This record gives sequence, C-alpha cells and structure tokens, in this order.
Amino acid sequence: MNDDQLSEKGVYRRHGPLPIVIGITGASGAIYGVTLVKFLVENNYKVDLVLSSHAPKVFQAELGLNCGDTTCLAMTNSLCKFLNIEDKKSQLRIWEPSNVAASISSGSYKTQGMIIAPCSMGTLGNIAAGTSNNLITRAADVTLKERRKLLLLARETPLNTIHPRNMLTLSKMGAIIMPAAPGFYHNPQTIQDQINFVIGKVLDVFDIDNENFKRWLGSSENLLLKI
Ligand SMILES: Cc1cc2nc3c(=O)[nH]c(=O)nc-3n(C[C@H](O)[C@H](O)[C@H](O)COP(=O)(O)O)c2cc1C
Repeated sequence: MNDDQLSEKGVYRRHGPLPIVIGITGASGAIYGVTLVKFLVENNYKVDLVLSSHAPKVFQAELGLNCGDTTCLAMTNSLCKFLNIEDKKSQLRIWEPSNVAASISSGSYKTQGMIIAPCSMGTLGNIAAGTSNNLITRAADVTLKERRKLLLLARETPLNTIHPRNMLTLSKMGAIIMPAAPGFYHNPQTIQDQINFVIGKVLDVFDIDNENFKRWLGSSENLLLKI
C-alpha cells in the first residue's frame, strides 16, 4: 500500500483520487503510454507504472529514449526528464516487471483501475489465460478480480484468430478493449492530434476530465432535422 494510503495506525485512509496503474508493453505505440503518464502526473494523479521487459526496446526505436540502466530509480529519472515532469516526480512510482511483490500485485492496494497502453498481443493473451507471469499481467489479474476498470489499448494489425478470441474472453470478464485506432472526424492536423484523440478516449473511460480532442456534437444536418 502506498505510504500516504495508511494512517499512523496502519489503517487505510484515502487522500484524494486513488492511484491509477499503468502498464506499457513492447507493442508499437510507446508514445500513447508515456503521453498518458505525462497527462496524469501533470494533473496530480498518482501513477504506479510498470514497463514490460520488452518495452525499453520500443522506447529506443520509437521515442529515441534509452532507458539504459532499467532499475526503477534510473527509469524514473530518465522518464521524468524525457517527459519534463521532474517537478512532479513524487506522483510517479515505477515498478520492475519481475517484482510480483509490488503493492499493485495485491487487491488490498486500492486503485482506480489499470490501463495497459499500448498492450501487445502477448500480454493480452497472458491476461486472458490468467498466467500472471509478470507484474503487468498479475496487476491486470488483480484488477479483474477486484472488479475494477481494466483498459487494454490493444495494438496489432492485422489480427489472427487468436487475437480477437482473447479479446472476447477479456471483454466478457469486463475488461475494456480499445484498439489503438484514432478516428478522423475531429479533423486532425498533426500526429499529436491523433495521439491526443486516443488518449482522450482512454481518459473518458476513467471519467477523467480532458480536452484532448474535439467531441462530436452532432452535424448541422442533424440539427436542422430536429427543428
Ligand atoms: C519495435 C517493435 C514493435 C512491436 N510492435 C508490436 C505490436 O504492435 N504489437 C504486438 O503485439 N507486438 C509487437 N512487438 C513484439 C512484442 O514486443 C513482443 O511480442 C513481446 O514479446 C511482447 O512482450 P510484452 O507484452 O511483455 O511487452 C513489437 C516489437 C518491437 C521490437
């Protein structure tokens, strides 16, 4: 349990919004995960973050970010510097993917839920099968058993038969499967617009206020029909 979730007597006590667990896997789209972390930390949410053991390869390939020494301290420092959130470092706790004794491994550590962004097909399959073979899949398993929100920003294309089968299994358990597929109805001008659209949809699921994307409020044709 987070230190500030405990009173001096060790009794659970809530201070502001509960933390959100974020998993970042080795799927393409690392920018989604780190943009989400930046948004939450900048907006004073507490984030418990786990990078899968494959995520640093994608960080290097897609973000040019060399996590180098992958200890939690080194990762926290390099990620906070990269995201320019050093002044909010205390909001972010990074856990090693092998640390299944981390707080987020237990249902007694209360959270708002978990977001895996991006989520590889490998991690998605492991969660569907309940393997709990690393901290991301264990924390996801806990999130499901506690009936908290679990959102998987799934990234692969095209899909083989195994992928939608695992998605169906998880959806039936209550997980929210969101393909990392931005829309175009908000008239995007930049890649950042598309990233913000996807992150905005993720935040909407957790009912976190954001103005990341232009919402569809009905076309003028519809309005005319109503009059
Ligand atoms: C640059 C790069 C991009 C990748 N993109 C994807 C992807 O979009 N989806 C996917 O399922 N796997 C992708 N992979 C493969 C995964 O990293 C690999 O399956 C890994 O075992 C996933 O493990 P993890 O879920 O524990 O991170 C990619 C690998 C690399 C190096």
